[in-house]
Amino acid sequence: MMQQTIWGKTFKNPIIAASGTFGFGSEYNEFYDISNLGGISTKGLTLEPRDGNSGIRIIETPSGIMNSIGLQNPGVKDYILHESHFLREKDTVILANVGGSTLESYLEALELLEEHNKTHRVMDIIELNISCPNVKAGGMAFGMNACDAEYITKEAKKITSIPLVVKLSPNAHHLVEVAQAVESAGADGLSLVNTFNALEIDIHRRKAVFDNVTAGLSGPAIRPIALRMVREVSKAVSIPVIGMGGVETWEDVIKFIMAGAHLVQFGTASFINPMAGLELVEGVERYMEENHIHSFDEIRGII
Ligand SMILES: Cc1cc2nc3c(=O)[nH]c(=O)nc-3n(C[C@H](O)[C@H](O)[C@H](O)COP(=O)(O)O)c2cc1C
Repeated sequence: MMQQTIWGKTFKNPIIAASGTFGFGSEYNEFYDISNLGGISTKGLTLEPRDGNSGIRIIETPSGIMNSIGLQNPGVKDYILHESHFLREKDTVILANVGGSTLESYLEALELLEEHNKTHRVMDIIELNISCPNVKAGGMAFGMNACDAEYITKEAKKITSIPLVVKLSPNAHHLVEVAQAVESAGADGLSLVNTFNALEIDIHRRKAVFDNVTAGLSGPAIRPIALRMVREVSKAVSIPVIGMGGVETWEDVIKFIMAGAHLVQFGTASFINPMAGLELVEGVERYMEENHIHSFDEIRGII
């Protein structure tokens, strides 16, 4: 009932942990068996390890958080050698979230992952993050306009042999155009939304709170906008869409599916309630049973 096969991969349910909010899964596995999730998106991986940004990195806002992590991660090699083992043992789909600052660094990271994936499973799907607002060069720049997004997708597609999902920025000037360009470049799917570019000010210091001045807003504050964007994009493309943005409860998962998503990610919710993922799975399952829904096809995109 909950199971779907998308891109030739079987997801036991549509609920996926969002990149950057779930590490590589091991910490949350102390709260519940993460094999219960349909999938897990890794922290954004870059070619080289990154220390991330200086200064304050996360603050709370009304109904959400702002973050300026700056893609802190151990790098692709370390993920392959150390972090991927834990995830491989889990019965869940692994999305390797890949970031970068230049086209070359994205492509080299993809090459490394591809090469190792041939001998042992380090990922099932690539989630190409062209939408990180907290990296100075590149990052979100690729996701801001259709031309750059199309180019990086085409180049990535030449290297990857597994499904390629491109993660879009809600900060793009013409999101639907970017989505269509990425689809025409050969992407197998889209995921949206990443965080919204936002600003907070410390009036006493007369400075922006974050060293980078702006930071990314996530959590329930963005949900209605994310829902609208997921609906618009999923109506404009014919490849599957992974929806996200402020998912907190199982009702929110159903909303994203009704807006057109095939799969749904939850991020910030885990910071408030580390059991969120399991509760979403159980809630959606109960809803399907109680409403005699046999397949998500019955409710997907009905809005
Ligand atoms: C602390 C933090 C770190 C994040 N790191 C990444 C990342 O490395 N790569 C990525 O694609 N998205 C990253 N994101 C974005 C989330 O995956 C997600 O798209 C966004 O937070 C919206 O979902 P949410 O409101 O459920 O958190 C991060 C978000 C947060 C809050």
